[in-house]
Amino acid sequence: MSTTIDTDISARTFWEKPFVERDKTFAHLRENDPVSYHRPYESTLLPPDEDTPGFYSLVKYDDIRMVSRDSKRFISRKGILMEDFPEIVQVATTSFLAMDGEDHKRQRGIVSTAFTPRNVKKIEDWIDEHAREIVDEMIDRGEGDFCTLVAKELPGRIFAHFFGAEVGSEDQEILMDAAEKMLAWDDPNAAQGRDALETFGDEAQRIQDIALKAADDRRENPQDDLVSWVVNAEFEGERLDDWEVAAFFSLLGSAANDTTRHSLGHAMLLFDEHPDQLELLRSDFDGHAEAAVNEVLRHASPVMQFRRTAVEDCEIRGTEIKAGEKLVMWYCSGNRDDEQFPDPARFDITRGDNKHLAFGGGGAHYCIGATLGKQMLKSAMKEVYTRIPDIHVTGPPELQLNNFIHGVHSLPVAWTPQSGSR
Ligand code: HEM
Repeated sequence: MSTTIDTDISARTFWEKPFVERDKTFAHLRENDPVSYHRPYESTLLPPDEDTPGFYSLVKYDDIRMVSRDSKRFISRKGILMEDFPEIVQVATTSFLAMDGEDHKRQRGIVSTAFTPRNVKKIEDWIDEHAREIVDEMIDRGEGDFCTLVAKELPGRIFAHFFGAEVGSEDQEILMDAAEKMLAWDDPNAAQGRDALETFGDEAQRIQDIALKAADDRRENPQDDLVSWVVNAEFEGERLDDWEVAAFFSLLGSAANDTTRHSLGHAMLLFDEHPDQLELLRSDFDGHAEAAVNEVLRHASPVMQFRRTAVEDCEIRGTEIKAGEKLVMWYCSGNRDDEQFPDPARFDITRGDNKHLAFGGGGAHYCIGATLGKQMLKSAMKEVYTRIPDIHVTGPPELQLNNFIHGVHSLPVAWTPQSGSR
């Protein structure tokens, strides 16, 4: 066993290392210790004491899919991340992501009925419209931070649109800012001097206040926005109550917003590093868009992990797991498993059969917004690459310190300004 590989993924310092360094650890674990046990994470959310149990790491593609798809034996309500959250915070902010069985089925069922084909088409139209406007607004500048100009802006505007908040309104500002900071509790840029739990709690509260206000209004005055569709959605005769609505929208703050934002940052970075792949994409954008987006998601793994808890004793690759033990599924590792993806570090938009784990390993919790997330990536990339052909990265990205989201905080870019190009 190599002595140079650091396998202590529970150390905060591990998450300060660049992705490529961490990737070596996961490659080492896939090869040598695919079901490894780790001490509890050095969490700042709920610092572990001597009784806090550690967790198993699943790093192989097949194991992650197996656990994801077996929500009877591997449950979510005991915690969804490597780090524990105080229970009250989890209940208030994670909605059905942290539920199982009938509770999960009921709430996911109600929310799913809000995403009718008509409503999804409307959201897709908003996405195209906002992507166009965002590029209109930046095209004559010539330089800037890609994350501020595009990656953060598109999902942020769509998230605000879900609440019916106008572009440029105070609510939009609050929603975008809170959604960004909520999930970056370990990052000093987001915490701004607060402790991790305070950061998470305050930011979730800001989203919930707006959600509750909007829900109250939309029960009486339904409009064309997601809050109206969700509060009026019914599944097996049931609707969501106010607190369920608030929890769902604070989940979406991270689930719909941050995930897409960082995926877009990675898209710009990856295509800049691989000009041959960009040329290929440009040669037939619509023909390659779906595969390109899937390859960005596989390669970057914007959501790096989710956790389950075993409810009965079981065995995975010969390792005995006891009921009550935690299993962390490392999507960022499964997406680099060479038994599933030949030459996994290669960024290749022609990869066939790209069944990546970026939206989870399938099963009950598979991402409800996978199609919309991909639509945001396609729409933004199309506007950017077709209208600003020489856009390029001019300096190193600033990455987030985070063990959950693989986040690009900022990415300087430049291009030839094109005034009046519309
Ligand atoms: C590129 C963008 C996105 C990525 C990478 C992503 C990733 C994920 C992942 C990994 C999961 C958990 C799967 C599991 O535990 O098995 C998830 C769940 C979820 N996602 Fe996404 N997501 C994205 C976009 C979106 C969007 C746009 C929405 C909403 C419009 C959304 C809503 C949700 C919800 C509600 C869940 C919880 C599903 C459940 O527990 O039943 N996501 N997402």
